[in-house]
Amino acid sequence: MALPGRLALRTAPPGPATGWYPVARSAEVGTAPVPVGAGDRAYVVVRLRPGAEVTGFSPRCPHRLVPLAAGTVVDGRLQCPFHGWRFDAEGRCVEIPSLGTDGVAPPRADLGAPWAVEERDGWVWVAPDRTSSLRPPRLGGAVPQPEPVPAPPRPVGPVLGNLDPALDSAWHPVARADEVREGGYAQVRLLGRTWTVHRTGGQLSSVPPAWGVQERLGLIWLAPAEPADVPLDVPEDGDPRAVGAWLPGLRSSAPAGPLADVLLDGTRATSVPAGTAPGPLAVSETRLEREAGGFTGVRDEWSGEPGPDGGGRLLRRTTSVHRAPFQLMTRVEERDAGTVRTLLVLLQPEDADSTRVHTRVLLRGAGGAGVPPGALATAVAAQKAVLAEDLALSALLTGSGLPLLMRDELHVPADRLGVALRLALADFVAAAGARLRASA
Ligand code: FES
Repeated sequence: MALPGRLALRTAPPGPATGWYPVARSAEVGTAPVPVGAGDRAYVVVRLRPGAEVTGFSPRCPHRLVPLAAGTVVDGRLQCPFHGWRFDAEGRCVEIPSLGTDGVAPPRADLGAPWAVEERDGWVWVAPDRTSSLRPPRLGGAVPQPEPVPAPPRPVGPVLGNLDPALDSAWHPVARADEVREGGYAQVRLLGRTWTVHRTGGQLSSVPPAWGVQERLGLIWLAPAEPADVPLDVPEDGDPRAVGAWLPGLRSSAPAGPLADVLLDGTRATSVPAGTAPGPLAVSETRLEREAGGFTGVRDEWSGEPGPDGGGRLLRRTTSVHRAPFQLMTRVEERDAGTVRTLLVLLQPEDADSTRVHTRVLLRGAGGAGVPPGALATAVAAQKAVLAEDLALSALLTGSGLPLLMRDELHVPADRLGVALRLALADFVAAAGARLRASA
């Protein structure tokens, strides 16, 4: 027997999707969002309370385009797993945690929704656009075949993925320096290609030949073509007062651009253990400075206790530095403890769906003081835990790269560093493109 809903699907012209589409059995839809397809449109359907009616939403969070199928239902609202934006049954964004309790979400933060969602005969039906029949058709004993879930719409503007030709014009980390000993070699993946890096007579080279191979920051770097990037300056690198350790190499299936966006908030790794901060903290806005090849952001945290001059006492200064394409550094100066903790995160875009993460932690006592015993191990353990969390989050990213057009995502004031990252990468892509054209 032909089903009216399926007939509507087969005959629906491109553009408006009219008709009702059976998308899932009612029993399969609970308080965990389910991705579905209706009329070539992707949605998630979910019950915002156990046993409540089913609601349908567009499938991605407008903030960073994260699939809402990974969201959770909290207090009758759908919550995005990334930054906790919450959406009510109409798709209205009713909470953005970074805006604070008085913050008002911009209208673009709202989710799209299908025209109607109904349950009938044990199935959830979705009508993407206004349709003449107010209720889904009766099944009459037939078993519908929901259509496959289509890919959500792509961003309108350019997206920087791991195989973008612009990335040829940059230095990329490809191995730890101690992985290629004198007379030895290592096979590595970079930009979708295999390279063999050799160390002979103290010289580094590669097959196929690259524009350059060099050692820096304890890593081997390879530039396929003349680089257009600016190297990251790490004050603690080579400082005899600093101690450091590499974390085990890790990989993410996310492209390096979105992964850098997730990892940019390195401050969680370096915060003072709970209970050790005296008094309530006041946190300054991030002061951002765009620079050649990237940006620097500085944020201060002040004790609520009065300092010697009557004002607050600076407890901690966090400096985040980015150099395109994928070099990140976070330095945290702990004023009371007199230590500087530096976190380096350097990304290797191996393949379209594989990014290797090189992470190094450096510690230095201030004013010639030594690093307390066990402090490095503690910092490494904390960073490992944060990195594992961030990589788990990055596994939810399904896009092919980082959107470089601002209006493809939605940015709020807390996204200063993320916006700066996108602008720096757009500049890098433009500079690399100009260099490639000039050399063609
Ligand atoms: S809240 Fe959804 S991606 Fe940020």
